[in-house]
Amino acid sequence: MSFANQVAIITGASSGIGWELAKVLAEQHCTVGVVARRKDRLDALVQEIQAAGGKAACAPADVSDRKQTVDAIHALRDQLGPVDLLIANSGVGVPTTLEPLNIDEVETMFKVNTLGVVYAIEAVLPEMLQRGKGHLAAISSMASYLPMPGESGYCASKAAVNVYMKGLRMQLRGRGVHVTTVCPGFIATPMTDVNTFDMPWLLSARTAAEKIIRALARKKTVYNFPWQMNVLMTLAQWTPEWILHRVLEGKAGKRLDAPAG
Ligand SMILES: NC(=O)c1ccc[n+]([C@@H]2O[C@H](COP(=O)([O-])OP(=O)(O)OC[C@H]3O[C@@H](n4cnc5c(N)ncnc54)[C@H](OP(=O)(O)O)[C@@H]3O)[C@@H](O)[C@H]2O)c1
Repeated sequence: MSFANQVAIITGASSGIGWELAKVLAEQHCTVGVVARRKDRLDALVQEIQAAGGKAACAPADVSDRKQTVDAIHALRDQLGPVDLLIANSGVGVPTTLEPLNIDEVETMFKVNTLGVVYAIEAVLPEMLQRGKGHLAAISSMASYLPMPGESGYCASKAAVNVYMKGLRMQLRGRGVHVTTVCPGFIATPMTDVNTFDMPWLLSARTAAEKIIRALARKKTVYNFPWQMNVLMTLAQWTPEWILHRVLEGKAGKRLDAPAG
C-alpha cells in the first residue's frame, strides 16, 4: 500500500525527520500539509516539493498552543482536503538537570512532545471518525522505554505519548482509524547534532523517514527501530535497576549521582 492521492499532515516538518517524511510522502504522490514554527523553513520545503511536481502547503504553528495547532491543521484541511494521515512528529529534547532543577525545560518538553501530539490529534480525529477512516501516528522515541539519567523529562514526555497512543488504539478498535506509535533510535538531525557521545546504530533522517513510511503503509501498531536498539531496550527493561545503574556508571566513567562539573 502507498499513500498516493491521500492527504497527510506532518508536524515538525521544518527540519530533520519531519522534513524527510514530507518529502518521502510527496514522492509517493501524497499531498502533504506541513506544520512547525519556522515559516521560512516550511516555505522552502513546500517549494522543494512543488518544484519536484508534488503537492504541498504549510501552516505555521507552535504545537504547544492548542488553538494554534488546531487552527493550522484545520486551515490545511480546508486547503488540501480531508486528512487521511497525521504524523505528529514535533519534538524537543533537552537534558534534565538537578542543580538547578530545570522545570521550565521539562514543562516545554511535555507541552511540545506530549500535548503537541494530543492537540494535533484533536484537529483530525473527529473528521476521521465521521468518515470511518484515517491513520494517526506519533513519533515517540526508544528513549520512552528507559528513563536515562539526565534525560528523565524527555523520556517521560515520550513514555506518555506511548501510553496515550496505545489507549487510543484500543478505544478506536473497529472504528476504521489506525494508530501507530513510532519509536526511533538515534537519527542524525539537528536534535542529535549537538550530542558529544557515541550514538550507536545512527541512521540518516532520510533512511528513518523511508522506514517509518513503510511501517505506516503496513499499518504497524508500534514500530521500534533500528532492530539492534530495540533488542537492547527490551533487555534493558528486564534488567534490575541496580545493574543498569552500574553499567551506565561504567559508560559515563563517573558516579551518576555526582554533582555536575
Ligand atoms: N533525532 C533522533 O535521534 C530522534 C530519536 C527518537 C525520536 N526523535 C523524535 O523525532 C521527532 C523529530 O525530531 P528530529 O530529530 O527530526 O529533530 P529536529 O530536526 O530538531 O526537528 C524537530 C522539529 O520539531 C519542531 N518543533 C519543535 N518545537 C516545536 C513547537 N513548539 N511547535 C511546533 N513544532 C516544533 C521543529 O520545528 P520549529 O523549530 O520550526 O518549530 C522541527 O521541525 C521529535 O519528536 C524527536 O523527539 C528523534
